[in-house]
Amino acid sequence: MNLKIALLSGDGVGPEVTAQAVKCLQAVEETFGHQFTFTSASVGAIAIEETGDPLPEATLDLCKASDAVLFGAIGDPKYDNQPDAKVRPEQGLLRLRKELGLFSNIRPVQVFPSLLDQSPLRKSIIKGTDFVIYRELTGGIYFGEKTLSEDGTRASDLCVYTEKEISRIAHLAFKAAKGRKKKLTLVDKANVLESSRLWRRVVSKIAESYPEVKLDFLFADNAAMQIILNPRQFDVILTDNLFGDILSDEGSVIGGSIGLLPSASVGEQHALFEPIHGSYPQAKGKNMANPVASILSAAMLLDHFGLTEEAQAVVAAINKSMKKGIVTEDLDAQSKYGTDEVGEFVASNIVDSDDYQSM
Ligand code: IPM
Ligand code: MN
Repeated sequence: MNLKIALLSGDGVGPEVTAQAVKCLQAVEETFGHQFTFTSASVGAIAIEETGDPLPEATLDLCKASDAVLFGAIGDPKYDNQPDAKVRPEQGLLRLRKELGLFSNIRPVQVFPSLLDQSPLRKSIIKGTDFVIYRELTGGIYFGEKTLSEDGTRASDLCVYTEKEISRIAHLAFKAAKGRKKKLTLVDKANVLESSRLWRRVVSKIAESYPEVKLDFLFADNAAMQIILNPRQFDVILTDNLFGDILSDEGSVIGGSIGLLPSASVGEQHALFEPIHGSYPQAKGKNMANPVASILSAAMLLDHFGLTEEAQAVVAAINKSMKKGIVTEDLDAQSKYGTDEVGEFVASNIVDSDDYQSM
């Protein structure tokens, strides 16, 4: 298969971790006989420095002309403490999601068997966790009207959802549940928010077309508790943009590190793959960030294009690295392995399972 991949590695540790994902994709290319072309473009704080725009036109054009986008991370502390900054790195990612129509953000939460002891949560609680968050990505409070009064004493962010925005992601979530454990949990604040009540009405109606899937509802505050109290109860969680952002960071605690969680953002025409973690500026250039979330995002990319065996080969290589203790310091404080070593090990252990069996 030929794939044109736009590489937007972004800020902080983005370039370091994305480089490992590229290495792994190149190993897949060689092992399975595909052709991937990678073209880099700038986004985020680095793009602001270069062009004044966190999403330069050339970057957007490249993404639109590519089959997929592999994204690193975005954000710089310089802007976090500047509430008055007009241009911010995050705007680049938000605009990119909107422009590419990436309305559905898929964030799987699993535990690696060899990492059961790395989680701050008890093994008996996290063992067997396997759920996926479907986070709405181009609507809600992230994109509603924002206001700030002239005297600077009043601000607002509007949370708007339409039936169409809810139903298109709901269908994807129900389809996913149908192919998994057949349970879908809608997370909202329908006891308080009108937009949440719309989610409930729309999702309940759609549920009639998926009779094999059991639908239940959870308020977001309760969901935040349930996710770490009893994560095994979940299969597919469907939720809005803001709740999905928060709950997926929380979900990463289960597996032991936010450096393990990948995501896929898909729309009707485009797809983007990125780790859920941020730019981790303290670790920039230190060869210490965990590349696994980025490599798993590359595996999600392969899966998206139907390259299932290839994706499995990447995951198998990651499992092997973990079994051997070849992990970064977020998972083992004594570790002597860095971003590059973990990436190198995973890439060089990607094998075609047919060859593997005959070995
Ligand atoms: C994420 C990030 C982004 C978000 C930021 C960088 C804008 O936290 O992808 O989860 O809030 O969506
Ligand atoms: Mn986030």
